[in-house]
Amino acid sequence: MNQIEVFCPGSVANVSCGFDVLGFCLEPVGDVMKVTKTETPGVSIGTILGQDLPTDPLKNVASVAVTALLEAHPSKYGFRIDIDKRIKPGSGIGSSAASAAGAVFAVNELLGKPYSRNELIQFAMAGEALASGAAHADNLAPVLLGGFTLVRSNKSLDVIKLPSPPELVATIIHPKIELKTIHSRAILKNTIPLEKAVQQWGNLGAFVSALYTNDYELLSRSMKDKVIEPYRAMLIPRFEEVKKAAIDAGALGSGISGSGPSIYALSKSIKIANQVGDAMKNQFDDLDLEYEVHISKINNEGIKILH
Ligand code: HSE
Repeated sequence: MNQIEVFCPGSVANVSCGFDVLGFCLEPVGDVMKVTKTETPGVSIGTILGQDLPTDPLKNVASVAVTALLEAHPSKYGFRIDIDKRIKPGSGIGSSAASAAGAVFAVNELLGKPYSRNELIQFAMAGEALASGAAHADNLAPVLLGGFTLVRSNKSLDVIKLPSPPELVATIIHPKIELKTIHSRAILKNTIPLEKAVQQWGNLGAFVSALYTNDYELLSRSMKDKVIEPYRAMLIPRFEEVKKAAIDAGALGSGISGSGPSIYALSKSIKIANQVGDAMKNQFDDLDLEYEVHISKINNEGIKILH
């Protein structure tokens, strides 16, 4: 095989109660990436459609991730990466993770699959580190493994795939302002009061339990964030109003998607997820702000080979 085309889906990280450790994979929104084997060793970026991103291999998250893979598994071939970048950088739905995970997945296929999907996360993290200033895998893990994932440790990279309750549907509203993860991480405090930590790990444990038992009520009670959201909410226009509108329209819960500005909600059916999307849109309608809405089932497969 000399060429491969893959679909690299978007993802929602944090899911309110699991900052830097919890995430799930989206279905309809994602990039398309083509990787071609070349005779000259090294990694190059070919064309990038849709967004203005660096083509310097040292500055592009896709090539940086592939370079990390090739350092561990040298090849006499090179690889050219062409990207149809449909997820806007700085949107909060895992744009850099889609690029980094897609690139290492595609190159791994062309190398004859020396690594499992789980093992590829460590290489893709080099791309995330470049994009956000911190190597975290909460977007990468669901993109590579599909479904919901929990990163027990970002350091020793211990990642668990979790079950997805069958009726869950996500609504994402993406206000078109760019919020770089590196900036929305910079405003966070390095310490948290014990009382808040206790609430947060109670909620995260309960959320994981709810995924295993399809307990939608428990899931709903657990989608809380008293640690990160209070700081980041001010960066997103009308965040509190949008979140309240989503919950009033029937969502199980709602919060910031990743580091924002997108806002996500989880609901128990496509019908409710659509109503939630309408309610969220209403909050932006009188603002001079472009936005888009995605309705998505949980994508249990993750990255997919197109050709
Ligand atoms: N966990 C990350 C954050 C996700 O919230 O900063 C964004 O990459």
